[in-house]
Parts: sequence; C-alpha cells; structure tokens
Amino acid sequence: MDSILVKGNGALNGVIPIAGAKNACLTLMPATLLSEEPLTLTNAPRLSDIRTMTQLLQSLGAEVASLQDGLVLALSSHKISNHTADYDIVRKMRASILVLGPMLARDGHAIVSLPGGCAIGARPVDLHLRALEAMGAELDLRDGYIHAKAPGGRLRGAVFAFPFVSVGATENALMAATLAKGTTVLENAAREPEIVDLARCLRRMGAQIEGEGTSTITIQGVDRLGGATHPVVTDRIELGTYMLAPAICGGEVELLGGRIDLVGAFCERLDAAGVNVTETARGLKVSRRNGRVNAVDVVTEPFPGFPTDLQAQMMALLCTADGVSVLEEKIFENRFMHAPELIRMGARIDVHGGHATVTGVDRLRGARVMATDLRASVSLILAAMAAEGETVVSRVYHLDRGYERVEEKLQACGAHIQRIAG
Ligand code: EPZ
Repeated sequence: MDSILVKGNGALNGVIPIAGAKNACLTLMPATLLSEEPLTLTNAPRLSDIRTMTQLLQSLGAEVASLQDGLVLALSSHKISNHTADYDIVRKMRASILVLGPMLARDGHAIVSLPGGCAIGARPVDLHLRALEAMGAELDLRDGYIHAKAPGGRLRGAVFAFPFVSVGATENALMAATLAKGTTVLENAAREPEIVDLARCLRRMGAQIEGEGTSTITIQGVDRLGGATHPVVTDRIELGTYMLAPAICGGEVELLGGRIDLVGAFCERLDAAGVNVTETARGLKVSRRNGRVNAVDVVTEPFPGFPTDLQAQMMALLCTADGVSVLEEKIFENRFMHAPELIRMGARIDVHGGHATVTGVDRLRGARVMATDLRASVSLILAAMAAEGETVVSRVYHLDRGYERVEEKLQACGAHIQRIAG
C-alpha cells in the first residue's frame, strides 16, 4: 500500500486546476442505463471510484470507454444484459446503489447488493427503497441483496416526501422517475450541486424535470430517453480542500474552475476565520489575511449548509487557529476518525459524540499517521504541510478514490510532498 511523505513547508504559491466532481460523475454514469442511446461525459475526474463504477456498469452490459486520458467517458447501454449488481463491486463503493433506480425504471427489474456500511457510518439505504416503493416497486431483501420489481414492468409517478435529506436517495428516485408513468414529486429533496448537475444531464437526455436545486423536484415521466453529451460540474469538495492549503500554510493559490456558488457556506466560515477568497477570471484566489487564522465554529448540514465532506479538512485548519473552535457533525455518526491522527501530530481535540472541540496550537509536529477514509486522508496531508518536520500518511488508497494527482497539484505550489510506493 502506498504512503505519502510530507515535509512541513512554508507558504504555498501557485495555481491548482480543479477537476470534475466525483460525486456528480458517480450519479451521472448510471444514468446511461436509462437510455439505449450514447451518453458522453466530459470533464470527468480520473479517480479509482470512477474506474469502479466503470467496472460495475460493464458487468451489467453497458459499454464504457475512457477517452482523452480519462477526461471523457463514452457510455452506452443499448441493452442491459445482466441485472445483478454483485456484492464484490458494491461493497467497494456505496455509490453502486445508484444503478438500482435506473435499472428498475428501464427494464422493470433489478437485483442489487446491499452496500453495507463504511468507516464513517452505517450508511443505510432505507430512503432509497422507500422512495422506489412509493413509485410502485416491489422489494424483497434476502441474502444481502435487494430484489426489485416494477409491476407491469413500469414504475408509476408518486408524491414522496423524504423524512430527512438524502443525496443518494434523491438521485436514485430522480433517475427512476424520469421513465415512470405519470408525475413524481420529490419533497424535502437534496439540493446539492451534484443533484442539479444530474437533472441538467437528464434533461439533455429528454427528461422533463423542474425544481432541481430546491427542496421540491417535479418529474413528468416519459416513455424513453435519448442520448446526450454533458460536462461534469466542478468538484466543490476538491475545490474546498485545496482552498484550505494556503489558509493553513500561508501564501496565495488560485483554484482554476472554482466557483463561489458551489462553496458559499464554506467561504463564509473561511472569511470568519480570516481567509480571503476573491473571484478571478479563471476561478478563485485564496490567501489568509494575517499570520494565523481565528477559531470559528462549524456545523455540517445538507447543501447549502457547510458540507460534511469538508469537515475533516476544516478541522485541520482549526488545529492551528488562534482560539477554541467547536465542530458539530450532523450528517454522519462517526466522522471524526481523523481527530486521533491529528492528535498524534500535536493537535488538541476533544471529541464528544457529534461535537469536536479544537483548541488551536502554534504548530503541529510531523508524525506517522494513518488515513481512515477519503476526506480524513486529505485533512492529514493539509495538516502535515503546515507541521514541523516529516509526516508519513499510510493507507493512501483512500485518497486516490477522490483526489486525482494530489501530490502533483500540491508540488506545483511548492509543497514538499511525494508518494512512496508500498
Ligand atoms: C453522498 O453520500 C456523498 N457520496 C457523500 O460523499 C456525502 O458525504 C453525502 O452525500 C452527504 O453530502 C456520493 O455522492 C457518492 P446521504 P450519500 O444519503 O448519498 C443517512 C465523499 O466523501 N441515510 O445524503 O450516501 C446517511 O447514513 C462521500 O465523497 C439514511 O439513513 O449520503 C447519512 O447519515 C462520503 N438512509 C445521512 O442520511 C438512507 O437511505 C445523509 O446521507 C440514506 C441516507
């Protein structure tokens, strides 16, 4: 297993290109199952999760070609030859559950392994299933698989109110509704930019959708969808992650493709902490106002609130802030596993349930640390760049799921970071 060696360095200065969004691409790719026509995705990120989704779709009979060094994905599922999403793939990546709605909507049946939990929580899929049941699906859970059928081979439109916001369940229901008979209204739907991106792609394919980006999405089912070419939206989590690099290390970095509207609540917390974010013709420029940032409190919420996927990275910044910060994680039940690793680097963090209290220290110290999940791994790298001495981050396969060429992007701004093949 590879690890990453980071030597604490001074200010970072340079330019970082931001890739297409992993969490948009992982829901756009299954949309190919809804149509017999080709779907081409541009600005695709080059990540291991995308390769896993490619394998899954190919196992179902879809054709997926990765072109232009992975930046373009050419997908087509003229026919779904296998309607079973196997546990061995699904357990590697929970987003695999997103093939359920499209297969059920297209062919009236599907068998998908239950994804199982992951490091940050149990991650149930009950809302996905309840939304599909509201649309007429008959579901039988046995042997660790979801056996799904649509009576008469077609789902029917329904009004479904999510008891709480779920990104994946909204995506599954949205895709399924595009081919259902009649009108579907999804209430308390997720508002994430990845949902908006999916709706725009589906509309290009011929779907009739209104309200994406608000809490109520209305879909008028159609008999069939066509093909489309669609650019994957910028990755707001990669963007926010790299915005924190100059905030933690000092200096000034321009994030190419960055957009304020994708990271509104995050920018508000950065501003409160004393970090300048300015829009440029190419993206966003970030630098901190003074030598040290101020402590700020953070509460994670569904979009447009502060994203849970930036909580670990923000904690790394607050470990060296002036004062005491409280981070409240309201989305996942176990998403502070980066805290013990940051404590190994000299951070002062007290975790109690969903709250982490961080007392800023002058400087962190390099140490051997272990990545536990995707976003925790990159928060350790951010902390290591600002620490004194050397840090080795192990188990970086977590990192490669969601960040392409992280060493190269940071080296280009002056970071002393390299990958050690393991
Ligand atoms: C998506 O996961 C993202 N993954 C996650 O990013 C992100 O953290 C999350 O949304 C929240 O923004 C992808 O898009 C591939 P949810 P998802 O359904 O859809 C509970 C990353 O680092 N819940 O909005 O699984 C769930 O356990 C990943 O890129 C149910 O109880 O998230 C969680 O506590 C991590 N039942 C909360 O709701 C359900 O049926 C929100 O989950 C579904 C979810």
